[in-house]
Amino acid sequence: MALPWQPEPLPRSEALLYAALPAYREHGLARFGPDGAVYSADALPVLERCRRTPLHADDLWVLASPKCGTHWTAEMAWLIQHDCDFAGAQSYLAPDRTHFLDAAAIMSPGWRQAAQQQGSDAVCRRLLQPIDGRPRPRLVNTHLPLSLCPPGLLDTCKVIYVARNPKDACVSYYKMLMSDSTLSPETTIEDFVTLYTEGKMVCLPFFPNVLQAWRQRQHPNMLFLTFEEMKRDLRAVIERTAEFLGKKLAAEELDRLQHHLSFESMRENKWVNKEDRIKGQKGADGERLSFMRKGQTGDWKNHLSDETSQKMDRWMEENLRGTGLTFVAEAPQQ
Ligand code: A3P
Repeated sequence: MALPWQPEPLPRSEALLYAALPAYREHGLARFGPDGAVYSADALPVLERCRRTPLHADDLWVLASPKCGTHWTAEMAWLIQHDCDFAGAQSYLAPDRTHFLDAAAIMSPGWRQAAQQQGSDAVCRRLLQPIDGRPRPRLVNTHLPLSLCPPGLLDTCKVIYVARNPKDACVSYYKMLMSDSTLSPETTIEDFVTLYTEGKMVCLPFFPNVLQAWRQRQHPNMLFLTFEEMKRDLRAVIERTAEFLGKKLAAEELDRLQHHLSFESMRENKWVNKEDRIKGQKGADGERLSFMRKGQTGDWKNHLSDETSQKMDRWMEENLRGTGLTFVAEAPQQ
């Protein structure tokens, strides 16, 4: 299925963008689809393949903008979908238990080639496997906005969307891209906030992604969650998700799952924390790589100046006005 939209290349004159992202300088980035989602400029065939993904009624999709709690939600969803099979959860969440649909579109051509070569990191290579051979029921996760997902997705499959206060998602994204050396070391958080709010970063813009799902929140196949409510009352979110998936959890299973999904437990869990792959590595900022970084709400206060925070407030106000969606600045911790 060809995408009915032509990509719009982000030209080299986008000096801030390409200064921040050296890996994309050669081949560039482009905007795709009606909301201008940013992916590698050569990603059209990948995105068309994503749109052709065959759908089965027992597939479960987890959608989120980057750093909004995708892995947390996917771990919860997989365990509920698989009747609390904690033994089965002892294999990598990504790529072995979830299918990361748009991974290849995110990678620059150079990364993709390196990942496909023999002798490359096997986990990274498995990330690029086609979905066809995956056992069902499948768990698909993606940063694609609904507009780039297969038509008919919501009418066929259950979809969980997880949103997060974009100030925290932005700081978390900055920290991740800096620590894995995707961002050039001179990129400041202020530069990153400019790119983030202008939707000029891979997998952005943020608001069209979130608001498309928000508008579908009453659809019987949509469960709209937030990172902040997971922090505030994880048990209630687990119960809601189980009900959404038509599963009944025994009290002991609920206790065990709640413990399993705590930040402390997930940080130590090698099947979700990516430590095997990033052990000991230091990023461009000299900080030790850690995928499970802080797991808090309101961490933006430690990183954004008043001026930058106010700039984000204005951007949020403009985009949220009239939508009914609000984000709490800091959820009370459990
Ligand atoms: P921080 O960088 O703020 O710590 P994603 O999976 O979408 O990439 O999101 C990653 C963010 O979710 C990181 O945020 C990570 O620490 C946080 N996270 C993952 N598991 C979590 C958990 N069990 N509890 C709280 N936060 C969690």
